[in-house]
Amino acid sequence: MSKNFRVLASVALAASLAATSACSNTRDEEASSGSSSNLIGIAMPQKSLERWNKDGSHLDEILKKAGYETSLQHADSVEQQITQIQNMINQNPKVLVVASIDGTALAPALEKAAEKKVKVIAYDRLINSTPNVDFYATFDNYLVGKLQGQFIEEKLGLKDGKGPFNLEAFAGSADDNNAKFFFSGAWDVLKPYIDSGKLVVPSGKKPATNEEWTTVSVQGWKTETAQSEMDNRLNSFYTGGKKVNVVLSPNDSLALGIAQSLESKGYKPGADYPIITGQDADLANTKNVLADKQSMTVWKDTRTLGDQVLKMVDAIVKGGTVETNDTKTYNNGVKVVPSYLLPPVVVTKDDVKTKLVDSGFYTADKLGL
Ligand code: GAL
Repeated sequence: MSKNFRVLASVALAASLAATSACSNTRDEEASSGSSSNLIGIAMPQKSLERWNKDGSHLDEILKKAGYETSLQHADSVEQQITQIQNMINQNPKVLVVASIDGTALAPALEKAAEKKVKVIAYDRLINSTPNVDFYATFDNYLVGKLQGQFIEEKLGLKDGKGPFNLEAFAGSADDNNAKFFFSGAWDVLKPYIDSGKLVVPSGKKPATNEEWTTVSVQGWKTETAQSEMDNRLNSFYTGGKKVNVVLSPNDSLALGIAQSLESKGYKPGADYPIITGQDADLANTKNVLADKQSMTVWKDTRTLGDQVLKMVDAIVKGGTVETNDTKTYNNGVKVVPSYLLPPVVVTKDDVKTKLVDSGFYTADKLGL
């Protein structure tokens, strides 16, 4: 991802966060959709990835509370999600909220939505290659990665010239538009240290540019795939007492597999245990952070995302103007989709209580605190 892009992304975000604007685009003239029903379709990815359960149930609950009918569906495959979306469209919803499994696979299905004047909000993950997506609500995905990269930089003292350290890097699912933003945010911080030799990658799996991020991607964000990949790297490149010092994991489902692999190779929390990053504050991972088996997680309060989407739905249904704070960053290949970006937050062992428990995201009991 070019330097200009990064500068553009952060300037755009700073400017737009400062001046939240009411957005209008060509499909906005008819702010309210053609359908007479009060139905909101909610299409979510697989339940096996913990956060989507939280996202789905929270959004469903607050929409119902606001007086809408809802249809909430989770899918385990792209094909299943396409069928679910087609069925929802046939029920003439006012708005379709879609967290896509593969953002490049929905264009044909959304043509039907356009014909029926159903408004489409991309949820967390951008929908690509179609004009038929009206708004995008997500967290600042590039900043998620940047926070992971900066955490590593600070923990290792890289700015003070410390090193060399052994790094292994992972990226998210190749079909997930967010994954390249996560990777680019982190790699823009870490790559200069790889170039200077302060970070060494014994497996050699170090993308030369951000565009090559899929060379370290883990399909479907699968824990077991990350675990076996880490096993292979440790077996092949960490012999004769060589230790891994830091693992860039883009999210918690991968971090869990990576921690399980390290444990199976005899790594124990303490001096020799590597820094491991994460994202989502999944329950098992938050417990791992408390147990020093993971160093941090980038928390995205999914409740705030749901709340923002409810505001968007209300504005669309009531013919109002939809609040956005970024109208530059997210080009889906056909158009720049007006977006609302929410801030991600770093959580470490020291602030699990203040950030996750005091905010009600978890009870102390659930975390064993
Ligand atoms: C991303 C999402 C992350 C993480 C990952 C795996 O798109 O933004 O929060 O959950 O998918 O589900």
